Amino acid sequence: MTPEQADQIRNSFDAMWSMSRDIGELCYSRFFELSPEARDLFPGDIERQRIKLMNMIAELVGSLDQPAMFQSLVTHSGRQHARFGVQPSHYDALGEALMWSLERKFGASFTPELRESWRALYAAVQAEMLRAALQA
Ligand code: HEM
Repeated sequence: MTPEQADQIRNSFDAMWSMSRDIGELCYSRFFELSPEARDLFPGDIERQRIKLMNMIAELVGSLDQPAMFQSLVTHSGRQHARFGVQPSHYDALGEALMWSLERKFGASFTPELRESWRALYAAVQAEMLRAALQA
């Protein structure tokens, strides 16, 4: 992602965070519509899982200007997800669900540029998590 895209993400973060509870809820319900078989991978409380996902997004945004920290977060998580049995197609579905949720909550302020910035962030995280999973 470009430095301008990183700026856009940082500038939209406070608004995103204020809606993060709803975004987490929408995201997982949409995700399980798109990938019903993935539901069985989550043995625990899905409410806690939503919080974990949103907290990790916050950590990732907070480390956009610290490449080593960003890399260590995604590498660790990618290895963990390989052990959870997560498949590449699940990442596509979760990304779609996340973008759909952001779009719904941001409404008109989710401009095409902002959308592209969040998409680029998710794509970078997905690529690095999958790379780490393959190496695990
Ligand atoms: C960018 C993508 C993703 C991020 C940032 C993310 C983030 C996280 C985080 C922070 C945790 C908690 C780990 C812990 O407790 O130490 C987690 C757990 C988990 N994630 Fe993801 N995740 C992503 C994609 C996915 C996808 C696509 C799936 C597909 C099913 C998935 C399935 C799981 C499962 C099964 C767990 C463990 C749940 C449990 O033990 O209760 N994740 N994820």
